[in-house]
Amino acid sequence: MCGIVAYLGKKVAQPILIEGLKRLEYRGYDSAGVALLGSGAIKIKKTSGRISALEGILDEPAAAETFGIGHTRWATHGEPNTINAHPHLDYTCKIAVVHNGIIENYGTLKTWLQNEGARFVSETDTEVIANLIGYFYAKGDEGEGRSQFDGQNKFEWAVQRALQELHGTYGLAIVCSDFPDMLIGAKKGSPLILGVGDNEYILASDAAAIVEHTTQAIYLADNEMVTVGPEGFHTKTIDNVTVAKDLTQIEFSLEQIELGDFAHHMLKEISEQPTALTTCMGGRIDRQNGKIKLGGLAGYLRELTRTKHLILTACGTAFHAGLVGEFLFEQLARIPTDTEYASEFRYRNPIIEDGTVVISISQSGETADTLAAIEQAKERGATVLGIVNVVGSSIARTTDAGIYLHVGPEIGVASTKAFTAQVAVLTMLAIELGRRRHISSDEAGRYIDQLSQIPDKISQILQQSDHIKEIASANIDRDNWLFLGRGFNYPVALEGALKLKEISYIHAEGLPAAEMKHGPIALIVDGMPAVFIATTGPQYDKIMGNIEEVRARGGKIIVVATEGDENIKKHADHLITVPDVPELLQPILTVVPLQLLAYHAAVLRGHDVDKPRNLAKSVTVE
Ligand code: AGP
Ligand code: GLU
Repeated sequence: MCGIVAYLGKKVAQPILIEGLKRLEYRGYDSAGVALLGSGAIKIKKTSGRISALEGILDEPAAAETFGIGHTRWATHGEPNTINAHPHLDYTCKIAVVHNGIIENYGTLKTWLQNEGARFVSETDTEVIANLIGYFYAKGDEGEGRSQFDGQNKFEWAVQRALQELHGTYGLAIVCSDFPDMLIGAKKGSPLILGVGDNEYILASDAAAIVEHTTQAIYLADNEMVTVGPEGFHTKTIDNVTVAKDLTQIEFSLEQIELGDFAHHMLKEISEQPTALTTCMGGRIDRQNGKIKLGGLAGYLRELTRTKHLILTACGTAFHAGLVGEFLFEQLARIPTDTEYASEFRYRNPIIEDGTVVISISQSGETADTLAAIEQAKERGATVLGIVNVVGSSIARTTDAGIYLHVGPEIGVASTKAFTAQVAVLTMLAIELGRRRHISSDEAGRYIDQLSQIPDKISQILQQSDHIKEIASANIDRDNWLFLGRGFNYPVALEGALKLKEISYIHAEGLPAAEMKHGPIALIVDGMPAVFIATTGPQYDKIMGNIEEVRARGGKIIVVATEGDENIKKHADHLITVPDVPELLQPILTVVPLQLLAYHAAVLRGHDVDKPRNLAKSVTVE
């Protein structure tokens, strides 16, 4: 959950590292640093605070420094201060490391290294990695291990020996002052990509830091390392077994990462949902024949059609999408489905009977809890599929097969276009399985037709942004909100509450509307905002009753309703409307006003919308 970048080439490294870190800052931003080589000893500059604080302490870039590594941190071990910032040097000052992940056995290793004479200056687990490499590098000089070299580079050998001792996760960029033209990267459980340019290399946590230099890349798999030197690069396992890696074309372009005319990435990503969903569904919807084509699952559609039980597992917003998926699979395909928080599923010794298929959902494809849940499911013999946005991410490569969202990079920490795309993919899959199991092609064709019109309907909702801003403005002084929905809109209520919480820091709770009377209605005080999703559907009259229960106790009623509903107007203090679609397609629409409500509330409260406090875009630690 931090950003790593390294540059080795002919250009001055420092500005390239800083620009790369800025593109990764959404991954973590409590402290930052760089290490530069080319002027003799490794030169390290690091500080607490944002990358802008780092820029304030840098020297003028030196022409000789065409090689370096950089890091923007989201602390897990040791407070976010300068001494704990990365890069970390080993006790011989020859090795420098930047790290994304958690080393679980760092305590044991730290004690052992201290007994061997290593000095530590920080509280981090990362410093153990640097000192362990430094230890083996020094031991190599003293003869031990010399035979292991067998012509292998001593630096590379020391890295391999150290990594073999580590338990936990890492994405690493490692340099050694004795090898001022050699960069080593290694991956286990955290992302790492090597961009291959024209006589230059960019190693980074994700492609956002690479695309402006090259679109050719290799994606490391777990327990693999890459050594980049004057003769090019080669890839091995950490057990020194050569691995052939193909160059991959990075899918997205720089402008997709740039803000353009938008104030924040989140607003850009909310606004691009119509095009993003068009791309996501493009080539997958066959309106002519009333079919859905999901190439990534081609080999598993028969198993999915016959499955007795689906388990959807994810975290946060992806979990909410999964909950919509649960209702879709049960309604359209009549497949018993459960949605599980990955963080709970992984520790619960889950029961997975024959015929169960597990589907993991993740925008980043790097969420530690979701990865762990996948491993649990695989160990119990389940087929595990993935619905992921980031191409080549760990979840994309760990699952048996899957579907990419193809909505481009999602930079804002608060997930928006990924949610609607996840729901769109789940909807397509549920329609296809329904068609294969029992719904008629005509019925499937009708749903497909309506689904293909969703992007235009979102465009209509986006026109209400100023109106929604007024609603936010009228209520941002309230510190407790409720979000309430029924049926397919219950998960949307959960998602709306999460959006508001994570960027405006207003406490919000999402609930099934009927649950109010089982306790939460005690919370209602005069003027308390209660956001109801009250679109047309089988429970419309019931939710009207829930609205009146809250209204009678002084709650401020904010309603998302269906266009043309005249009845609702007398029940609502604030009204937002969405186009009329069948209930099972409503979540992709009803979430959009809630995304905008949260966005405007956060901006009006003066918060950093794209980098909210305490959060980072990808939770690659537990
Ligand atoms: C959503 O806005 C949050 N950023 C967070 O809940 C996120 O959805 C969760 O961490 C899962 O991330 P993933 O989809 O990348 O796995
Ligand atoms: N565990 C390391 C630290 O706390 C790296 C954290 C991260 O991935 O940002 O410094």
